[in-house]
Amino acid sequence: MAKINRRDFLKIVNRVLAATGLVAVFGPVVAYFYPPNLEETPSEPVLVSPETEMPVGESRTVAFGRYPALVINTAAGLKAYSAVCTHFACICKWDADQEQIVCPCHDGFFSPVDGSVISGPPPKGLTPLQTEIKDGDIYVSAGGEE
Ligand code: FES
Repeated sequence: MAKINRRDFLKIVNRVLAATGLVAVFGPVVAYFYPPNLEETPSEPVLVSPETEMPVGESRTVAFGRYPALVINTAAGLKAYSAVCTHFACICKWDADQEQIVCPCHDGFFSPVDGSVISGPPPKGLTPLQTEIKDGDIYVSAGGEE
């Protein structure tokens, strides 16, 4: 086995540290330009639930591309929104007792009827999504009414 002197050892350590530093600095830059293949919004409707398993007052949160969607069966019909809060992107939930969509992070409240802000810090309403019923199943897709 070849002996390695102190100077060569320090050169190797120096190069390893330099390579690690380059990866730490440029890795995020490369990741920005070549993001992982995560769909922002699915191009096909996403299955939510059989219609019979979601009575009025119930909700479901489903994976909708990269972010979750919140689907609520309200007295005014099916409503769906991106569950991502417009304040700091926390995930909103349906509160059946209050009959409001709630963001737990800073007490943001949204209307289940149109996704508008009822109270709290969110600067605008939730992004609406579209629902449809096909063969007894509820689906959510992009493109709801603003
Ligand atoms: S992140 Fe939703 S209210 Fe702040």
